[in-house]
Amino acid sequence: MNKKIVVFDTTLRDGEQAPGASLTDQEKLEVAHQLVRLGVDVIEAGFPISSPGDFNSVKQIAKQVKGATICGLARSLNKDIESAAAALKPAKKKRIHVFLATSKIHMKYKLKKAESEIVKIAQSAVKHACKFTDDVQFSPEDASRTERDFLFRVIESVIKAGATTVNIPDTVGYAQPDEFGDLIKAICNNVPNINKAVIAVHCHNDLGLAVANSLAAIRNGAGQVECTINGIGERAGNAALEEIVLSLLTRKDMFRDRSTRIKTKEIYKTSRLVSKLTGFAVAPNKAIVGGNAFRHESGIHQDGVLKKRQTYEIISPETVGFYGEGLVLGKHSGRHALSERLKSLGFKLNKQQLEKAFSKFKDLADKKKEVFEEDLISIVEEQMKGLPEVWTLEGFEFSGGMKTNPHAEITLKKKGEIFKAVSNGDGPVDASYKAIEKITKINAKLRDYSIQAITRGKDALGEVNLKLEIKKQEVPGRGASTDIIEASAKAYLNAINRFLFKTKKSHTVRL
Ligand code: KIV
Ligand code: ZN
Repeated sequence: MNKKIVVFDTTLRDGEQAPGASLTDQEKLEVAHQLVRLGVDVIEAGFPISSPGDFNSVKQIAKQVKGATICGLARSLNKDIESAAAALKPAKKKRIHVFLATSKIHMKYKLKKAESEIVKIAQSAVKHACKFTDDVQFSPEDASRTERDFLFRVIESVIKAGATTVNIPDTVGYAQPDEFGDLIKAICNNVPNINKAVIAVHCHNDLGLAVANSLAAIRNGAGQVECTINGIGERAGNAALEEIVLSLLTRKDMFRDRSTRIKTKEIYKTSRLVSKLTGFAVAPNKAIVGGNAFRHESGIHQDGVLKKRQTYEIISPETVGFYGEGLVLGKHSGRHALSERLKSLGFKLNKQQLEKAFSKFKDLADKKKEVFEEDLISIVEEQMKGLPEVWTLEGFEFSGGMKTNPHAEITLKKKGEIFKAVSNGDGPVDASYKAIEKITKINAKLRDYSIQAITRGKDALGEVNLKLEIKKQEVPGRGASTDIIEASAKAYLNAINRFLFKTKKSHTVRL
């Protein structure tokens, strides 16, 4: 039986509680609009009473974002509920989410209240919230560490008071999947009016089990899952939306066709947006959205993927909207992978040509862990008498220090003619890039920059790898020198020359 699981995204509330994450109102709106494109059912936009800024951003989202229910968090206090209601007023579909801790440790030390008082406060908070909307969610905070009988009693009373969703948080990420699944089953079997509400789950990742616990809950009757993009959130974070959604999709057999309305092709884009705005990099090995999630480096794996993708790929990168380079070549890659990759780039090499390219590729792979498409192009280009250098670096002068503005003078040559420009910048590299831009008049944004030593010792050769965005195209560049400013300038010019070459010529191998 197919059943839609409600996806409740809390990136803008619990996710934004992550230490170091702080988004402007405009950025929150941008994320909220993208969450609608992604297809989430509910957006928890913030905790309105917590600050005037939060109130305002919830209000703006409620006003401007259509296509999902907008939710605001409130403690079980009238002033919190009223603040949430006011912020949510402009929303077409609104939900108030009230919470109150129910575990012994929270009741004794934090709230200093007895069980009977907790039940009364919870009930009256839900009743108050129902005055503003008929979509009210209640969370017994720290539910996974709450005495079961008491938890059943609280849930029954808040449903009686009007709650339409009861959310079971594993607030401190303490639960284990079997145990948490069993708790959801027990709620289904022991709360007499449970059929009047949706059971939601909200799992934290302190033991790395947030997604596993959420999935166990879905298997045992949960109809809503709370999650964040890239799994960001308080402490170790929340359950990652993308991981839950792809599990349901990939293992329909295990989830009795439970599915979501998420448009999976929007996942990668959403992940990038959240990472960019929060400044939290996504780990390369992060499931679904990590840079390596769809890369196969071992020769055996690459060979298998080329023969039949599903040998080593359970999700196609396109499913999540990832259209990047995919197959990365490294030192373990064989001739088959190389020739297939060159073919896909438009290069048809005979056996002898392939041997030559393969040996150059192996030399490069010894120096670099990963070899990208552009490296392959440059290998073949070298065999084509090298990349035509429209612009070459003829000289550079640099001055700067702790108390003086970085200043660079760059000299370039094009078709025998010398060009000079000077510029200040935030640092020596920035100043030299600005001077190059003045000369070449090519507008480029620096998208990526890294420097690494290719040799050992003080006189090590530094290699700069960068990516420029020129006219919406990402163009890589590489330059090496024992001087890092020179290596940086060379890498920048290499990208510019590559761009000029790519836009003028088609790839034909002339060995
Ligand atoms: O982790 C938690 O318990 C929460 C509640 C407010 C739902 O974030
Ligand atoms: Zn939480």
